[in-house]
Amino acid sequence: KSGEFQQMREAHELAANFYSHLLLNTVEGEKALQYLEQRGFSREHIEKYGIGWSLDDREVLSQLLQRKKYDMKEMERAGLCIMKNDGTGYFDRFRGRIMFPLHDDNGNVVGFSGRTLSTSKDEAKYLNSPETPIFEKSRLLYNFHNARLNVRKTGKVILFEGFMDTIAAERAGIMNSVAVMGTSLSDTHITKLKRIANQLIICCDGDNAGWEAAKRFANLTAQKGLDAQIALLPSKLDPDEYISTYGGESFVEKVIGNPHTYMSFILAFYKRSKNLTHENDVLQYIHEVLEELAQKVSPIERDLMLRQLSTETGVSAQALQEQFIKKV
Ligand code: CTP
Ligand code: MN
Ligand code: MN
Ligand code: MN
Ligand code: MN
Repeated sequence: KSGEFQQMREAHELAANFYSHLLLNTVEGEKALQYLEQRGFSREHIEKYGIGWSLDDREVLSQLLQRKKYDMKEMERAGLCIMKNDGTGYFDRFRGRIMFPLHDDNGNVVGFSGRTLSTSKDEAKYLNSPETPIFEKSRLLYNFHNARLNVRKTGKVILFEGFMDTIAAERAGIMNSVAVMGTSLSDTHITKLKRIANQLIICCDGDNAGWEAAKRFANLTAQKGLDAQIALLPSKLDPDEYISTYGGESFVEKVIGNPHTYMSFILAFYKRSKNLTHENDVLQYIHEVLEELAQKVSPIERDLMLRQLSTETGVSAQALQEQFIKKV
């Protein structure tokens, strides 16, 4: 079994080198290289993260693997190739995409995420490796192997929802960030973070999905005994877009350097789509925050939150307290 996994890892290493060569040294890779440069990727970061390009060709990687005598059934199980319908051979899973290698905790390439250059909605923005014996999405944190030492040194880790954000954060000098790939955070992810850090800053995208994800992540980590702070982004930007727009320094100071406690995040969360000069919105806001408070136990937090709520809404703390008691 471990021999089989070793073959899969080797094949991924080979594929990553191949993709990287295509991006950096061939005419076919030029368009992708330009795209990356436009997005602020330096040559150094492209190389550090092992980014590559998969040709828009149906079987160039499969042929390479065959020439190198890899067992093609296994390459299919590894997620690199797909058997042709008529069973006469294999074609490549990834074609015409920018290739981001995914590493396990020891730095072995175990999968890929491929980004399309196309802006058409018909095509998935990212195509990922399937679940394989060496790659489980719910265990892998992007950049964990690079960030681990820095996290241990500072005790602090920053969690993003996309790996593009992690790479952009490095431009801002942030070397202790990891990313889940999308919006689910598993128990295994949290256990891993907890093992190396005692402080977590969650920094999700500024769109609605990102706010929802941040709330879910904060609840999940708190349940596992890892209290998080939440960094907020203005106007629907994601961390990568923020850094491109306002620069790394601003990101470090204003976003990461000014994280919210769960409590203050919750107030911002329910306030964000409301206009507190409208009475209806005020009532709705109070209702939502009190619901949230009913689920929290700490009397100190509750007191602080009620007082802030009172300041914001002009409703007396006593009335809020009474309303809260009626609810629970
Ligand atoms: N994702 C995915 N498949 C998609 C969309 C998203 O796997 N079709 C995952 C990717 O791992 C991505 C993460 O979810 O990194 C966050 O999604 P999103 O915010 O949409 O992507 P960005 O990281 O912002 O990518 P980009 O800046 O290239 O648009
Ligand atoms: Mn997003
Ligand atoms: Mn994003
Ligand atoms: Mn983005
Ligand atoms: Mn703030």
